Amino acid sequence: MADTFVSMKILNGFDGEAIEQAVAVLLQGAVVAFPTETVYGLGADTFNPYAVAKIFEIKNRPRFDPLIVHICRKDSLFDIAEHVPSLAIHLTERFWPGPLTIILKKQNSIPDIVTAGLSTVGIRMPSHPVALELIKTLGRPIAAPSANPFGYISPTKATHVVRSFKNNVPIVLDGGNSQFGIESTIVSIGDNTVVVHRHGAIPVEEIRSMGITVTEKKGNDMCEAPGELPYHYAPRKPLMIVNGIDEVIAENSSFLGFIEKTKRPMSRYVRYLSHDGDLREAAANFFSHLIDLDKGDIDIIYAERIPEKGLGKAMMDRLKKAARKCAP
Ligand code: TXA
Ligand code: MG
Repeated sequence: MADTFVSMKILNGFDGEAIEQAVAVLLQGAVVAFPTETVYGLGADTFNPYAVAKIFEIKNRPRFDPLIVHICRKDSLFDIAEHVPSLAIHLTERFWPGPLTIILKKQNSIPDIVTAGLSTVGIRMPSHPVALELIKTLGRPIAAPSANPFGYISPTKATHVVRSFKNNVPIVLDGGNSQFGIESTIVSIGDNTVVVHRHGAIPVEEIRSMGITVTEKKGNDMCEAPGELPYHYAPRKPLMIVNGIDEVIAENSSFLGFIEKTKRPMSRYVRYLSHDGDLREAAANFFSHLIDLDKGDIDIIYAERIPEKGLGKAMMDRLKKAARKCAP
């Protein structure tokens, strides 16, 4: 169950005290809804995987999607991306702060749940003064998707967020109507080209007018050709869903358990998602454990079934896809 708060506070985002309150909430590991020039976002401290898991829980998405990391200075890009091609720098010079998200290879310090297991991360420096002030005062980047529940359109006013999330979000910073009202344009960098992943507030023509070749991302399949940027993380090793460690038969295997009370100790080949079945803790560990087990010198990963409620649905969605894709 998502946390519920006695009352959701709607605060004037242009007020310094409201920013301080929002930062205190973020530092406690809770989420805050905040305005950007595109749409409102539902943000958490990028470096707190447990807080990031709450975003997915509150949005009630049946699956995990990678989140955009929001920064308040252009040079923070170098703390998040492993490598910043010069084409990416050109784009930031022209479009940041503003509604352009750039997908780059992530540094290890970015938690895997932020990128839903992908090795790349979407980064953007918004232009809305309230968003910038919030990130600056927090002193860390904010991971956020649009602040709408699954299946709803993105919010462009504080009242939209309030209506959708009732008392699941402790603070909504009101920054007025979003200037663009549509989400950021998302791109990645290819060989001397910019690849568009989502059309949005920056028209592709504006990128082309800089003399840059722009191509469009096609398909949305997990089993993409090598070298293609996948949209969804899937382990490389075969994966089988089991009801418990007793069903593990293959010798050369690893085990992803749900609750630690199971019999085998944690090891290179055995990881538990939670101590006592807390689905948020499990989600916070889910991608990093799966990635670690996938790296091992093993033939198959066994994954213990997770209860399909709340965040458990999104985790099982990933496991079922991996089991289908990798069925031996
Ligand atoms: O304008 C916006 O972009 C707003 C504001 C709040 O910044 N955010 C937003 O977030 O629209 P969201 O989560 O609703 O949409 C972000 C999209 C998702 O569809 C996700 O799949 C994609 O960005 N995305 C994020 N990181 C990615 C990555 N590393 N690779 C591919 N797609 C990525
Ligand atoms: Mg969205």
